[in-house]
Amino acid sequence: MTDLSTIVSLAKRRGFIFQSSEVYGGLASTYDYGPLGVELKNNVKAHWWRTFVHQRDDMVGLDAAILMAPQVWVASGHTSAGFADPLVECKACHHRFRADQLDDPSCCPNCGGDLTEPRMFNLMFKTFLGPVEDEASNAYLRPETAQGIFVNFQNVLNATRRKLPFGIAQIGKAFRNEITVGNFIFRTREFEQMEIEYFIKPPSDASPDSDMECLERWIDDCLRWYTGLGISPDHLRKRWHESRELSHYSKATCDIEYLFPWGWGEIQGIANRTDYDLKAHSKASGVTLNYFDEETQEHTTPYVIEPSAGVDRALLAFLIDAYHEEEAPTADGKMEKRVVLKLHPALAPIKVAVLPLSRNPRLVPKAREVYSAVRNSAGFVCQYDDAQSIGRRYRRQDEVGTPLCVTIDFQTLDDNAVTIRERDSMQQVRVPISDLVPALKERLP
Ligand code: GAP
Repeated sequence: MTDLSTIVSLAKRRGFIFQSSEVYGGLASTYDYGPLGVELKNNVKAHWWRTFVHQRDDMVGLDAAILMAPQVWVASGHTSAGFADPLVECKACHHRFRADQLDDPSCCPNCGGDLTEPRMFNLMFKTFLGPVEDEASNAYLRPETAQGIFVNFQNVLNATRRKLPFGIAQIGKAFRNEITVGNFIFRTREFEQMEIEYFIKPPSDASPDSDMECLERWIDDCLRWYTGLGISPDHLRKRWHESRELSHYSKATCDIEYLFPWGWGEIQGIANRTDYDLKAHSKASGVTLNYFDEETQEHTTPYVIEPSAGVDRALLAFLIDAYHEEEAPTADGKMEKRVVLKLHPALAPIKVAVLPLSRNPRLVPKAREVYSAVRNSAGFVCQYDDAQSIGRRYRRQDEVGTPLCVTIDFQTLDDNAVTIRERDSMQQVRVPISDLVPALKERLP
């Protein structure tokens, strides 16, 4: 298994992920996505949206505000103990820990000193709206995107006239003032979620397990998304929450875990939230949030199945799973180490690199012409690279996961054909320039 430090250093060196505010010494556990990182992250989100919104008939999207009325968080239960972690502090070194994550809750893992009694620490970031910092202007940065969906349930229903079951999807930032952060982008205080609230008929005497059956279906669909994008099934597992771990709103939750370098860690939770949230907001707001069933001529409060994934955690799992070190032959027949990110082509930040064999002035105009044709007509992210030897450039593209390289050589000037080199197999095929764009499209999903 790859070391996390190898991924962190590749991520920085090649412009995927940087420490935030690095010139000021960095802000702990806060990260910025660089030129390749933002492409990868956008590809993760776009693929998720395509799979779970555009390619289904029972889903619509939403983009709600991060700031919401403070009553939302009272009704949802987030201002109370349900969304707080037990905090302890070392009386000697003043390090702080989550009491429930300590092997020995009686002494400090840092210096062995005595710990304070646990106190419940709410994870929501508080801020103020407007210039006056008082109780009346309190607001919170959302700790999950889900509540924006619940409070818009009736708006979406009225606007789209959907029938149950249907879901609302949303991708966006969430914030939690975590006591302990770490493992690179795994646990941070600012992160991004891809969430679905899937509204279904509540279970009835005739179908008492319909909610749990729907939960199971979503778990399978979500697992398939990760494996379909190349994550080895051996590196994924399901873990059902024990009843003491369940969130305050959940009847049952199953996590999808990935085998990270430090062990299994949650990348997604799929929960049966029942009718908890819609009922809580109906009661607190006085606005009825329910569904009129034309078949039974009755109003019901739908149950909700919630697949909730972390963008940053999924991206980290994709990076780790894609990372390979291999022996590969150099141009002069020696063997050398090659680092290759075997990212699924749909996720790869750069799809095609166009490489002239050298900077020879006879080659450059042709290479530029091919590059413009591919970039303008194929609709992929394409890069032109002519710095250093061709071997070094192949390695550079392998290391960032570019699935295809197109090489222009002296023979191109005679036969108007170029070489396509495939990242994983390193196989090369020659194609006429007139067929190049369809040939590239054929090799990229
Ligand atoms: N609406 C349900 C919900 O928020 P959650 O299990 O607390 O459920 C869902 O969060 C996902 O969000 C997690 O599976 C994880 O991928 C991501 N996530 C949660 N806290 C995170 C953090 N501090 N840093 C990075 N990702 C986090």
